[in-house]
Amino acid sequence: MYYSVHVVGRVHWIGVNDRRKRLFENIWPLDRGISYNSYLIVDDKTALVDTVEDRAAGNYIERIEALLNGRGLDYLIINHMEPDHSGEIKVILDHFKGVKLVGNVKTFKIVEAYWGIKENLFEVKDGDTLDLGHHKLKFVMTPWVHWPETMMTYDQTEQIIFTGDAFGSFGALDGGIFDDEINIDYFEDEMRRYYSNIVGKYSNMVQKAFAKLQDVPIKVVASTHGPVWRSNPSKVIELYNKWSRFDAEEGVVIIYASMYGNTEAIADYIGRKIAEQGIKNIHIHDVSRAHLGYLINEIWKYNGLVLGSCAYNSEMFPLMEQLTRELIHMGIKNKKLALFGSYSWNGGGVKNLKKFTEEVDLELVAEPVETYGKPNIEKLKQYDELARKMAESVRKAN
Ligand code: FEO
Repeated sequence: MYYSVHVVGRVHWIGVNDRRKRLFENIWPLDRGISYNSYLIVDDKTALVDTVEDRAAGNYIERIEALLNGRGLDYLIINHMEPDHSGEIKVILDHFKGVKLVGNVKTFKIVEAYWGIKENLFEVKDGDTLDLGHHKLKFVMTPWVHWPETMMTYDQTEQIIFTGDAFGSFGALDGGIFDDEINIDYFEDEMRRYYSNIVGKYSNMVQKAFAKLQDVPIKVVASTHGPVWRSNPSKVIELYNKWSRFDAEEGVVIIYASMYGNTEAIADYIGRKIAEQGIKNIHIHDVSRAHLGYLINEIWKYNGLVLGSCAYNSEMFPLMEQLTRELIHMGIKNKKLALFGSYSWNGGGVKNLKKFTEEVDLELVAEPVETYGKPNIEKLKQYDELARKMAESVRKAN
């Protein structure tokens, strides 16, 4: 990358795009790439806010040097230690002699674990400040958004907040950096996918962070991934607030596991019956075809979820089991749930889906239904009530 972008005051965006990585954290698809945003403040004192992933860094150091124009780097502020942001810390330390690492006690534990670094540390606590000249920074501890050490850095002068992963998005920045330079509709799905896949598990901690920031005036939201919000920061704040409250849109996601099409046929029938009740957002997915990350994104978006599994060696289908395990892990809430399945010998799909409901805080809106053998029109009528109740419950919830 051969440019930096002025943000506000003496702050410059100095991030990079990564279009090579196929899977974020080696699990979540990056079909549209991702940006790692880093910011340089060239004030009376100079400070870098977060770095970038090492394999995507390119000429990152040269770009910093160009902005510093012969000056040194006084501080490297570490809001988050996940390697997509901490990847260049050691390189920065080696290159800019005397730079002080700014972080909290938990940050430095990881810094030491990664590189054995114990010196040039500037430890901050919640509410501590750092005066750079024009910019007066204040540190806000926001643990578990997304790791235990995560914090945010708020500039009281220009009212820009450097939020780490919070308010981030999948998707590379294809020229436009700011929300007003981009058709933001393109990003909304990627933002929710990023939120639900990466940060969603910590939604209660996101809500705690919101409570802390409630009375803080914010003009610019500068996350470490995705657009910088300078024209409409309230848009991304509202979206994150909504998602972390599990506030979903009216609609039903039907996800099925099917070996030979029997459970799939039931999924189609349920979808049709829900549509007859006037619900328009109905999306049916084969758990063997769609990646877990996309399924979780869809589940986060809508308030109704129908899961169906064939029996597989007297258990749930393995990929459905993986999905349900991930939903438990993420603490999914506030969905209306229904279950179905089919079997040819002694069952196992629905039996284990029912066990899943004991471990999640989801409301089962209808008695689960399971079909023996191939469905026919008589057997399928058993699903009318399930579909009707699902439609009724998602409509009522909005
Ligand atoms: Fe973008 Fe939790 O790292």
